[in-house]
Amino acid sequence: MKGLNDRIAHIDGQTQLVGIIGYPVAHSLSPEMHNAAFAELGMNWRYVPLLVAPDRLADALRGVLALGFRGVNVTVPHKVACIPYLDSVTEAVTIAGAVNTIRIDASQGKLEGLNTDMSGFLADLAVNRISVGEDSHVVILGAGGAARSIGAGLARSGARIVFVNRTLERGLEIVEFLRSTWESCNVEAVGLDRLAEVSREATLIVNATSVGMFPYTDSSPWREGVPFPKQAVLYDTIYRPLQTKLMRDAERSGLRVIGGLGMLVYQGAAAFEMWTGKKPPIELMRQVCLQRLSQS
Ligand SMILES: NC(=O)c1ccc[n+]([C@@H]2O[C@H](COP(=O)([O-])OP(=O)(O)OC[C@H]3O[C@@H](n4cnc5c(N)ncnc54)[C@H](OP(=O)(O)O)[C@@H]3O)[C@@H](O)[C@H]2O)c1
Repeated sequence: MKGLNDRIAHIDGQTQLVGIIGYPVAHSLSPEMHNAAFAELGMNWRYVPLLVAPDRLADALRGVLALGFRGVNVTVPHKVACIPYLDSVTEAVTIAGAVNTIRIDASQGKLEGLNTDMSGFLADLAVNRISVGEDSHVVILGAGGAARSIGAGLARSGARIVFVNRTLERGLEIVEFLRSTWESCNVEAVGLDRLAEVSREATLIVNATSVGMFPYTDSSPWREGVPFPKQAVLYDTIYRPLQTKLMRDAERSGLRVIGGLGMLVYQGAAAFEMWTGKKPPIELMRQVCLQRLSQS
């Protein structure tokens, strides 16, 4: 039987706090992922979920600063809404148009907005040995924050990048932004009706829409009747479920498929490193997420 000391979580006056603000927030895998990493490294840090209603966002940000938190992750619906309350944002935020991590400098009383989606995606591509260059043809499904980050991350490679989105205007906005940032980038946007035409020669297809995400696991963003290009790798940024309908359909057509778990882990790892200055135990973080996602 465990002794009393083993059952008491060791939290004391030196414990450093980080967390996640969202609404809802109970579903987040980040507390388990980060707390496992802190425990593994023997760090006296804790990561807590913080349920923050939209009308309390400003109070909550002042609160985490006043309470000496070292940082917070930001999730739906605060990713864009938090920007006016921050003292500075990084280039990745300007590109993505959204914040997913805040670093808190308590001594200066400053909040800095970061976005680790792009670096998380690129890190996972590298781990999966997928290189994107001038000969690549990337099709990105979606034109929200994730699509924008991923497109920007790949735009400098010289690859041809086509955004395919239900709302064409949103895709065109990203294209305009990327062209104004990297003049020579090879980007365009089309509506879903042109998916067959633009995906024929694709080498990488990225799903950055929310279609197929739990609980709507029977949906797919791929248009019925459009053949999958066999030479392409399919990367679905969705990680809940671990295998989406899109992944199953593409795999059946012979494509190599990758899910969004790696991106989740690497974007979390980037936040961990920015807050603590330490390299996190990435494999452990992946196992923690995998275990939790396999149960749900
Ligand atoms: N693995 C990771 O670490 C990670 C990190 C960030 C995001 N993600 C994933 O990326 C996805 C997008 O996130 P986000 O933050 O970019 O969301 P977002 O800004 O809300 O964008 C959602 C996108 O999905 C499209 N969409 C939604 N419902 C649709 C439908 N019924 N039919 C066709 N298109 C539809 C939207 O099209 P419209 O423009 O037409 O509305 C938009 O392009 C989510 O699945 C999220 O889980 C994963």
